[in-house]
Amino acid sequence: MKSSAALLASLTTGDSPFIEQAKRAGQLFIEQPYELYSEENHQAWRKLYARMLPCWDRYANEHFLQGIHSLCLDPERIPHLEDVNRFLSPLTGFQAQAVSGYVPSFVFFDCLRNRRFPTTITIRRSDKLDYLPEPDIFHDVAGHVPMHTDKHFAEALVRFGECAHTAAEMAAGIRGPDTRVHYLTSVIRAMARFFWFTIEFGLMREGNDLKVYGSGLLSSHGEIAHAIEAPEVQRYPIQLEWAINQGFEINHYQPLLFIVDSFDHLFSLVDQLEAWMKAGKLSNVAPGEPEVNEGDLKSFLHAELD
Ligand SMILES: [Fe+2]
Repeated sequence: MKSSAALLASLTTGDSPFIEQAKRAGQLFIEQPYELYSEENHQAWRKLYARMLPCWDRYANEHFLQGIHSLCLDPERIPHLEDVNRFLSPLTGFQAQAVSGYVPSFVFFDCLRNRRFPTTITIRRSDKLDYLPEPDIFHDVAGHVPMHTDKHFAEALVRFGECAHTAAEMAAGIRGPDTRVHYLTSVIRAMARFFWFTIEFGLMREGNDLKVYGSGLLSSHGEIAHAIEAPEVQRYPIQLEWAINQGFEINHYQPLLFIVDSFDHLFSLVDQLEAWMKAGKLSNVAPGEPEVNEGDLKSFLHAELD
C-alpha cells in the first residue's frame, strides 16, 4: 500500500491530488510543492524540451531565444518558479506565480497589469506529449515566460492588463444589468480573440523572415513548423478590426495567423484596442468563439478597481 505522501507525489495534469485539494479549498494562488514532482514528471519536461530545442532555433523570434538563455532553464528538470523569477524579475519586473487551475479572465488580465503571470505547475503525462487542451508548466514556463524577459513585449502585456481594467470601469458605469452583461460578453470576447491571435499564436517579421512569438506555437512541437511552413496556413499582417471579430477553435492547428512588425507595433495595437473600447467599437463584436463563461463575466462584474 502506498503511503499518503506517496499518493500525493505527482503533479501530472488531470491527476494531481495536491491540485485537487487546492481547488477544493478554493485556493487559486498556491505554492509550487517542488518535491511532489515525480521522476515521470521530470521525464516529460526533458522530452518536451529536447524536441522543442531545434524548433526554437529555427522558428522562434530572437527575443524568445534570448529569453530562454536569460532564464537558464534546465533542459533536464522542471524549473523551480523561484529560480525562474530570480532571473526574470530584474529584467522586466515580471514574476511567474503558481496557480491551481483556470484563472477567470479579469483576474488573469489584472495579474498581467501587475506584472504577475499566473502559471500552471502541473505537467502533461510523459507518454502523451502532444495533445493537451489545457495549459501545463511546459506551455506556461517554456512557452510564455521567456517572452516576459523582453522589455517591449512585457510593456505590451501590462498595457493589455490595463485594458481589462478600463473594460471593468466602463461596465461599472452601465446601469441596466442585461446591457452590462451584453457589453462585457462582447468586450471579453474581443480581448480573448486579441490575446489568442497575438500572445498565443502571433507571428512577427524578422528581416525577410517570419518568426513565431505566440506561446501556443512556441510550446507545440507539431504546430510551430506548420505555422511557418505549411502553404495552406493564411498569414496576414494583423488588422485589429479583423482579429477582434474573428472566431477561433482550439482543437486543431490554426488555419489563420496574424503578423506584427515588432513588439512596439504590438503595443500600439493594444493602445488602439483600448481607444476602440472607449469609443464603443468593442461593444458588439461578431458572435462566435470563444464562449464567454459565467466565471469570466463575474470576474469583471466584481472586479476590485483601484
Ligand atoms: Fe497560454
